[in-house]
Amino acid sequence: MRTIEFLTATLPFLPVGFASWAANLNYLSPSTHHPELGISIRRVVKRTEPGASYTPDKLNFTHGVASGDPYATSVILWTRAAPMMEPVDDHETLLTGAVPVYWHGPEMTPSNAPICVDWKVAKDKALKEVVSCGKAYTSSDVDYTVKVEAKNLQPFTRYYYQFNICDSDVKSPLGRTKTAPGENDDVSKLRLAVYSCAFYPYGHFNAYGHSARKDSIDYAIHLGDYIYEYELYGNTDGPPIGRIPKPEHELFTLYDYRQRYATYRTDPDLLLSHQTFPWITTWDDHEVADNTWKAGYATLRNMEGSFIKLQEDPVSFDQRKMNAVRAYFEWMPLRQVDMDDNLRIWRSTALGNLADLVILDTRQYDRSLAELYFNHDYIDSISNEASRSMMGGRQEAWFYRQLSESKKRGATWRIIGSQTLFSYINSSRPNAGDEFPAISRDTWSGYIATRNRTLHHLYSNDIKNNVFLAGDSHSAWVSDLVWLNSTDPHPIPSEADYDPFSGRGAIGVEFGGTAVSSPSGLGWNATREQAQFRSDYAVEINPSLQWAEMFHRGYTEVELSHEVAKASFFGVPDIWTRNDVEVKLAEFECYRDENKVRRPIGGSTVKYGSVKKSP
Ligand SMILES: *[C@@H]1O[C@H](CO)[C@@H](O)[C@H](O)[C@H]1NC(C)=O
Ligand SMILES: *[C@@H]1O[C@H](CO)[C@@H](O)[C@H](O)[C@H]1NC(C)=O
Ligand SMILES: *[C@@H]1O[C@H](CO)[C@@H](O)[C@H](O)[C@H]1NC(C)=O
Ligand SMILES: *[C@@H]1O[C@H](CO)[C@@H](O)[C@H](O)[C@H]1NC(C)=O
Ligand SMILES: *[C@@H]1O[C@H](CO)[C@@H](O)[C@H](O)[C@H]1NC(C)=O
Repeated sequence: MRTIEFLTATLPFLPVGFASWAANLNYLSPSTHHPELGISIRRVVKRTEPGASYTPDKLNFTHGVASGDPYATSVILWTRAAPMMEPVDDHETLLTGAVPVYWHGPEMTPSNAPICVDWKVAKDKALKEVVSCGKAYTSSDVDYTVKVEAKNLQPFTRYYYQFNICDSDVKSPLGRTKTAPGENDDVSKLRLAVYSCAFYPYGHFNAYGHSARKDSIDYAIHLGDYIYEYELYGNTDGPPIGRIPKPEHELFTLYDYRQRYATYRTDPDLLLSHQTFPWITTWDDHEVADNTWKAGYATLRNMEGSFIKLQEDPVSFDQRKMNAVRAYFEWMPLRQVDMDDNLRIWRSTALGNLADLVILDTRQYDRSLAELYFNHDYIDSISNEASRSMMGGRQEAWFYRQLSESKKRGATWRIIGSQTLFSYINSSRPNAGDEFPAISRDTWSGYIATRNRTLHHLYSNDIKNNVFLAGDSHSAWVSDLVWLNSTDPHPIPSEADYDPFSGRGAIGVEFGGTAVSSPSGLGWNATREQAQFRSDYAVEINPSLQWAEMFHRGYTEVELSHEVAKASFFGVPDIWTRNDVEVKLAEFECYRDENKVRRPIGGSTVKYGSVKKSP
């Protein structure tokens, strides 16, 4: 409401039907309070002079449909309606086996005219029982993306939706979506798939397609590294599968980031998942750059309070981050929860009385200086400083408040979506020399005060039944959630009197998932034996770590009921071809009020990886 009033008030000369312009939320980003930072809709409207418009036969829905951020009565719908161009390079289209992508750029766009789309949401596949519909415009200003909010829906209900070019039969694929349960609704079961780290040149995104083919979930969660900003193989060798994303260099400009999303969104399994399920997403570092923190990233090598940097980038880091963030909001089906803060992606959703889903941004929002490879010893030396924050004060305060309010309202589970692993993990190698850092300070283990404050909040307020989800590491990890009271847990003393074998003293669990296609930390071609050896060792030396698996790419499905939170880890044995083969690696349970991984760990389900052995 406020949005429309505001825009109408400040832009008085808009034509009738102006609401359909503001209906494309991508025109309002990054701020409705500072129109000068965004796009002048009035100027875009002016470009609709007669004769300039595209005829419908020149237009197409180039990248499928997507939905996301379900609320009880509304959901975000996404598509892209663009003028068709000849593919720039037929040879490459053939090489990647991708559906034709119509690359456009300012230099190739024959007309700047906006494009009109209609959308509708119905209860049935045939779209007869329409419950919500509207009109929206798009244009090159927002990369021809369309993002609308479909309102007046019923809670926890499946819907179908479709876009079409106004006054024509040019239609998008048919999408399916589902609203969230109402905050106080009694929900007995919810199923989520959790994804992270999809590196296009290293493998097909089969993992995304599996849940859609099985139709096994309600919502998909993505914890980040949805794209990678690297050029080609990130300067290392990779598997010979010929998946070369556009543009063929590291991303810096807005156009670069848009092209990269356009490449990733040609993977048929990714398209299928977006078309089938609403997604709830957050970013990690690679949506902007490698190992980002609030003011820099790895190869820039800049440090807090210093202007020294070794890499000359084509644009400043601020500008690069803005480009990356803008392309993300254009291409991803998510809400901008604070229209005056386009960097804010942290948000939470009530999933009935069953759970609160708290999505964090421990990466781009306000992270203190990160591990940048060359500065490990320095980060090690400051990792305990209380002033270091992984999220910034504003987000931290909000996070702790969410946890308290969730307990107060009586939601059974608190599901926390974090980018990196929360648990303390010493990933040292047997007989390793000093050259190998045992602790990844790019995770919560580089921000010990933030982790302590989180654990302090949970323990001191007796907030139980917490399930942390994590990505980023490209391996799978299951841990009891516990406050180990030292940076070196040998021998195992714990703030909470934790017993690693019974799990006594823990306050929840962490399910850390493997990558969709990014290589294992042991290399893209590590053998199963190498991976097993390393996971055996990790489980042996880390008190709270109960299972680890370092070989497979894949994803995790989490099923929630009031009795139990169950995580099923799936591995995708072959990502060098598109195929529908998967293996269930293992399954773990956390029973309500038990606050630990159910013993015996994994029961009889563990087929791969390493389980903690009893003494
Ligand atoms: C429109 O796009 C879809 C999806 O990319 C494609 O399958 C279809 O062939 C395109 N239509 C035309 C007329 O190019
Ligand atoms: C793994 O790939 C690297 C090149 O990236 C190669 O040097 C090495 O021999 C390969 N190892 C195996 C086990 O194939
Ligand atoms: C975190 O908590 C542990 C256990 O109480 C303590 O040993 C450590 O010094 C704390 N570090 C910070 C930065 O608060
Ligand atoms: C990591 O584990 C190894 C092997 O147990 C141990 O020697 C080392 O001290 C540990 N490092 C840290 C920082 O916990
Ligand atoms: C860690 O906790 C244990 C058990 O509560 C306690 O005995 C020990 O002194 C603590 N160590 C530190 C370094 O705080």
